[in-house]
Order: sequence, then structure tokens, then C-alpha cells
Amino acid sequence: MTYPSRIRWLKYLNHYSKALYRAANCQYQQVTWQGLRSCFYSSHCPTERKAEECGSVGQTHTVRDALHQWTRKFKEEKIPEPDLSAGYIIGHVLGFKRAFLDTPEMRAMYATDLMTRLDEKQTDRINGLCQKRLQRMPIQYVLGEWDFRFLTLSMKQPVFIPRQETEELVGLVLHFHRKKPNLHFLEIGCGSGAISLSILHELQQSTGVAIDQSVDAINLTRHNAKRLCLSDRIQTHRCELSDSPRLPDCIMGKYDIIVSNPPYIFQEDMPDLAPEITRYEDPKALKGGVEGMDVTLRILNMARHLLLPGGSIWLEGDPRHPAMIQKWLRTNPHTQVQLVNVLKDFCQRTRFCHLKYLPYKR
Ligand SMILES: C[S@@+](CC[C@H](N)C(=O)[O-])C[C@H]1O[C@@H](n2cnc3c(N)ncnc32)[C@H](O)[C@@H]1O
Repeated sequence: MTYPSRIRWLKYLNHYSKALYRAANCQYQQVTWQGLRSCFYSSHCPTERKAEECGSVGQTHTVRDALHQWTRKFKEEKIPEPDLSAGYIIGHVLGFKRAFLDTPEMRAMYATDLMTRLDEKQTDRINGLCQKRLQRMPIQYVLGEWDFRFLTLSMKQPVFIPRQETEELVGLVLHFHRKKPNLHFLEIGCGSGAISLSILHELQQSTGVAIDQSVDAINLTRHNAKRLCLSDRIQTHRCELSDSPRLPDCIMGKYDIIVSNPPYIFQEDMPDLAPEITRYEDPKALKGGVEGMDVTLRILNMARHLLLPGGSIWLEGDPRHPAMIQKWLRTNPHTQVQLVNVLKDFCQRTRFCHLKYLPYKR
């Protein structure tokens, strides 16, 4: 396939996936599943019946055959987002990445690429990866990489897969601190490194310290930092933030900001998580304790020892958390932390808290 064809494929997939993601995650759906399906099939396949005529999964010939056969198989096995899963895997094997936005013209041109013939090696690889998806492995682990803002990050089970909301958290941090190019930050719970590495990438004189309780997470952050040539501006430590009043040595210092997307699922909500999450992601990346605030409260408790006066704390959380944090801060004035703003995510859920360390005047 030629380079322009790859771009078309990329743009098509990215457009489709982002629309689908929003449709799946927002309560008020502007883009419906039905609408997406009809858009998909009307552009690229005359009728859905055609897909049924494509033969078994093992007899794939063209990109379109593979797409339809695996979509059908995923549907039969009740795999969530069947079209999208097949599309991502096949695009990945063909060497495309999720990166660009789409236009209607691009989508129309894309139709020809569907007739590209797959060789035996490609077919085997597609089948192997699709088998993993059949086991409900998240697509990010199946592909081994995922895009976060402007970076492509390696993904490795069981390290937490960065979510779209967190891209917004980083956007808020960068917007708020845009006049401080040499920002010095601390990230608690860095996972794959998505937040820290994006800040380093987009604020080119910034420096940071990132910690995580998980060895796998720290190794992945280091690996991603190296691949992205950002290692010289980040220190990484395997370290667990505990309830102990003594600060871990590795995070001692004075920072402009603390940023964290801590584990924040309420204990009672854990059983409702999808198998993709419970089977594959580290439970310690998810479990926030009874009220989802265990790590959040540890951060608020120690912030005054780590932040410069006026320094910021940026937190992602559950929509119930801002009110709970506000209430907790009222009964814990020793923290000298104030909630200054609550911001919503793309689904209008109160998701992000901006707090400040404002020491008492002596
Ligand atoms: C929700 S994930 C966020 C990962 C990454 N920052 C992101 O947004 O994709 C939470 C991370 O915090 C780490 N973590 C959980 N409890 C921790 C603790 N007490 N101290 C340090 N890290 C912790 C987990 O291992 C996990 O990587």
C-alpha cells in the first residue's frame, strides 16, 4: 500500500474511533452507534449482507474481507466495539497508526484501500492479534502501543492504559502553566508515563519526578521516556505513597505542581468494571478504597511539604469527588490547601480538581 493510502487509512480509523469513543462514553449521544454503522457500511460496503458472504476467518483475501469477517466474529462473541477492534488490529498489521483527523473527502477516497490483498503473513498476524481480542484483551495491549496527545506510548499489561479524559487533564495543566516554561513537577502514579512525558514534550524546559508503586509501571515509563528522548528531564522511582507522615526520600524537594490521576474507583463500583479492565489492568491502579480517595487524601496531606507557596495540585477523579474533597479540606485546615477550581471533562462530568497550597500568613 502506498504512503498516501496509509494516511487515508489512518485518518479514517482515527475519525471513526474518536466518534465511537464519544458515542460510547457520553450520556447525551450526538453520534449514535446506528449512525456510525450506517456511515461505515454506506461508505465502504454496499450492504451488510456482502460481509456475510466473505467466508470464514481463515480464508481472508482482502482488507475488506478481514474487516468484515473479524467484525462479525467479534459480534458473535459479544466483544465490545467489534468494528473498531477489527479496524485497529488490521490497520496496525498494515503498519498504520492512529494519528490524524479525517475529512469526508479522505473517507470517500479510502474505499479503494479496502480491496488491497493481504498476504499470508499479514493474515496470520491479524488472526493472532484478533484471538487476543477474543479473550477480551484491551486493544491497547493487543497492539502494544497507544497514542496519548502528541505521543505514541508503548503499552504493556498490567500497566494502566491512559484514558482520553487524562489527555484533557494534561491540557489544563499546560494551559494554566504556559507562562512557566521551566515548570518543575511531581507526578504520583505515573503508569505508562502518559502525563509526565506529555508535559515534558510540550513544555520543553520542564523537569519532573514521577513515582509509581508498580515496578512494571516504572519500567514502562522509563522505556517510553527513552524512546521519546525525554529521559534527561525526568527522574523515576518505584515508590509507594503511604499514610506514613514521613515523606519518601525519593520525592523530597520543592515543586511548582503535583499532578496525579490516582486510583479512584469506589470500592462498591469495582465489581461493575468491564472484563477488559479487571482481567488485564493492575487492580492497584484502580482501587481507590471505600470512597475512592485513599491516594488523593495522601497527596493532599503531604502537599504542603512538597509545593512552593502558591503551588498547584491537579487531580483527576470521580465526579463525586470534588464535593467530597471540599468537605474534607474544611475539616483539615492544617493542609493549607484550597480547592480553587473544578473542571469538567468532554462528557460534562466534574472530573478535574485544581487546588493550591496557600500557606497561612504569619
Ligand atoms: C489510574 S493509574 C494512572 C496512571 C497514569 N498516570 C495515567 O493517567 O495513565 C494510577 C497509577 O497510580 C499507581 N499507584 C496506585 N497507588 C499508588 C501509591 N500509593 N503510590 C504510588 N503510586 C500508586 C498505580 O500503580 C497506577 O499506575
